Amino acid sequence: DGLHSLMVKAGKMYFGTATDVNTFNDTPYQAIVSNKNMFGMITAENSMKWAAIQTSPDTYSYADADQVVAKAKANGQQMRCHTLVYTQLPSFVEKASWTNETLIAAMQTYVKNVVQHFKGACYAWDVVIEALGDSEEKHYRDSIWSQNIGPAFIPIAFAAAAEADPEAKLYYSDYNLEFFPDKASAVVDIVKDLQARKIKIDGVGFEGHLIVGATPSRTDLAASLRLFTDLGLEVAFTELDIRHASLPPSDADLKKQADGYVAVVGACLDVPRCVGVTVWEFTDKYSWIPNSLQHQGDALLWTADYKPKPAYDAVMALLRAA
Ligand code: G3I
Repeated sequence: DGLHSLMVKAGKMYFGTATDVNTFNDTPYQAIVSNKNMFGMITAENSMKWAAIQTSPDTYSYADADQVVAKAKANGQQMRCHTLVYTQLPSFVEKASWTNETLIAAMQTYVKNVVQHFKGACYAWDVVIEALGDSEEKHYRDSIWSQNIGPAFIPIAFAAAAEADPEAKLYYSDYNLEFFPDKASAVVDIVKDLQARKIKIDGVGFEGHLIVGATPSRTDLAASLRLFTDLGLEVAFTELDIRHASLPPSDADLKKQADGYVAVVGACLDVPRCVGVTVWEFTDKYSWIPNSLQHQGDALLWTADYKPKPAYDAVMALLRAA
């Protein structure tokens, strides 16, 4: 058994991981990621993003993303597809001088092309992520989307995705929803607005970029998830990692990290419409954190040299007992 097969036995749909083409030649890595008992759901960490796909106005480059999809399929794994409208954009999109009208048209064309390309391969799409600001206040993040279109960019994106693939689950995902009640309530407003307009939204993703020692309790996490299942949606942890705020971690820190992972996976077990948990890579070797947050990291379930950490053992034990 592995994380995924035990998660399924516990009544959930999946345990998943982010991965990408940069790992393809890493043999010990591939032995773990290809094991469908370990990971039943795959997210491309970068290669399905706008910046990766539309490399110039007339060029769509699907080669990397297609390889991730093909490998998952060959391994008997499903895909969460990530992400359509976000701020990791090609420079020609960033630099263009858009009007409301031309930017809406460009977004609709992009979403339609990409969702149609992957049609049938995606269990779910992260349609819009990280639309809201970083702080506790309720406001939209400054982006070309919010500047040129305003909050309407969200319903426009969801409507375009729904039209292009009526089968894929459509998600809004963001981080810090577990910490900032106003941010969570802003997402509740986004969901209610889509529902009022009869535009399809199926789920809310909690990214779950958390910090050791500052991870909410299992009960509080479950309460945050229920804000959205109460609206009829499914939920998932879509990018889980729990980083040490300083390195190297002590044994006590590793134990606290394990407690954090158990709280998150446990909260998903406690909420019937939580479908699964995805970690944002599984080995510290490929974590995004050291590149972005200096002196922090070691956030994942395996060390950089592929030794399972106490957090891995703790999640396995939790699931075995579930
Ligand atoms: O591919 C280029 C490479 O050619 C170049 O030599 C190198 C030099 O910097 O950059 C490479 O691109 C990097 C890319 O990852 C692929 O490795 C980018 O600089 C780097 O910014 C990018 O970081 C990714 C980040 O999203 C960008 O927004 C991380 O890997 C990825 O883990 C991270 O994931 C995001 C989720 O999509 C959304 N939620 C937050 C999460 C963490 O930031």
